[in-house]
Amino acid sequence: MTKDLRVNADRMLASFNQLALIGATAEGGVNRPTFSEAHLAARKWFREDIERAGLEFHTDGAGNHSALLPFEPSNLPTLILGSHLDSVPNGGRFDGALGVIAALEVLRTVKESGIKLNVNLEAIDFTDEEGTLVGLLGSAAISGHLHPEMLQAPRGGRDNLVEGMQRAGLSDESMLSAVRPQDSFAGYLELHIEQGKRLERAGINIGIVSAIVGIWSYRLSFIGRADHAGSTTMDDRLDASLGAGAFTLAAREMVMKDFPSCVVNVGNMDFAPGAFNIVPARVDVSLEFRSPDEEEFKRLDAALLLLANTEAIRFGLELKYENLGNHSPSLMSDKVQRAYVEACDDLGLTHTSLTSGAGHDGQSLADLCPVGMIFVPSVNGASHSPKESTKWDDCVNGANVLLQAALRLGT
Ligand code: GLV
Ligand code: MN
Ligand code: MN
Repeated sequence: MTKDLRVNADRMLASFNQLALIGATAEGGVNRPTFSEAHLAARKWFREDIERAGLEFHTDGAGNHSALLPFEPSNLPTLILGSHLDSVPNGGRFDGALGVIAALEVLRTVKESGIKLNVNLEAIDFTDEEGTLVGLLGSAAISGHLHPEMLQAPRGGRDNLVEGMQRAGLSDESMLSAVRPQDSFAGYLELHIEQGKRLERAGINIGIVSAIVGIWSYRLSFIGRADHAGSTTMDDRLDASLGAGAFTLAAREMVMKDFPSCVVNVGNMDFAPGAFNIVPARVDVSLEFRSPDEEEFKRLDAALLLLANTEAIRFGLELKYENLGNHSPSLMSDKVQRAYVEACDDLGLTHTSLTSGAGHDGQSLADLCPVGMIFVPSVNGASHSPKESTKWDDCVNGANVLLQAALRLGT
C-alpha cells in the first residue's frame, strides 16, 4: 500500500550527518558558499551518495546535481524534489541540506518499494540558492528565467561569479544552456526548515506554504569627498557614511510604518577609502528588500530609492544605484497544497498554512508547473546561523509528508 510507505529515518540521518561534516564549522554549522571548496566537496559527496543508492546521476550546465528515478514510458514529465547544498557564510546544517537529503531518501524509498509512477522522480541540489553569486541561480537556469544580463551584474560581483564558475567547470554559456522544456516539468516539491518561530510556538508539525516572498537587491552608493578627518571642520565635510547611516535608519522606520508586510535589510556597507583618519568618500550599501505582493514591491522600490536620494541630498552627497536582481513573489499551487494537507492528515500530523519570508527555488518554477513547499519547526526560529536546528523527528515527519505528497501527485 503506497499510503503505508515511509522513509528510512536511520538511513536519512546517516546521510544528513555525513553531509554536515563537509564544511563543518567550530560553532556547529557549515560554511559552504557557492562553488567554495566545501560546496564542491558536498556536491561530490552527493553524487557518490546517489550512486551508492543505485540511482542515476545527472548534472547540467548550471551545475545542478540530481538523482533520477525514471519510469515508463520514456517521455514522462518529471516531478522534481529538492533544495540546495550551498549555505550562507557561517550558516547552519539544515537550510537546504535537509530538503536535498529528504528528496534523495524519497527516491530511495520509492525505488525500493517497486511502485510505478506516472512521472519520473528527480532529487535535485540547485546551484546558488542562497545568492552568494546570483541567487536562485540553478532553478532560474532550468526554468528559462536566467538571462545573460543577470550574469553580467550579479549581486555577488561579476569577478566572484567568473572565478566560481571556473572552479566548477561552468561558464555563462553552459549556465544558459541548462534551460529545460516546459512540458518536462510535472511539478516541484520542497521540504525546508521554517527559519522562524511560528510552528514551534504553535506546537504544529508541518507548515504548508501558501506563497513565497519576492526579493529585490540593489547596490546603493553614497558619494561624498575624502578629507582629513582631523583638520576638516564638521560642517565642511561631505561624509558618505552619513547618507548610508541615515538611509538605513529611515528605511527601517518607513517599512515598519508604511509597509508592514515587507522587510528591508542593509546587509553590508563598504567604506572607501576606509581609514580611521579619512572622511569616507564613498559608501556602497548592499540593500535587499522583500514583499509577498508584486504591486507593493513596486511602491516599496520607489519609496526606498526616493528615501536614499533624500538622505543623499541632505548630506550634500551624490547617489548612484544599481539593481542587482529581482525575484518575484510566488503563489504556491492549490493542488500541491491539497496533496500536502491529505498527506499530513493521513500521517496524523498537525498542519497550518503560512507564507515564506525566505526566498526559495520554487519561485523560479512557480509559473511553469505546480510548486509547493512544506516547513518543519526551527528550534528557537534560528536560521542563517550555526544555531540552526530542527528535531530529527520533525525532519522525518517532513520527509514522510514529502514522500506521500509525491506519491499522490505521481500516481
Ligand atoms: C535564502 O535563504 C534567502 O531567503 O535569502
Ligand atoms: Mn534554503
Ligand atoms: Mn537560506
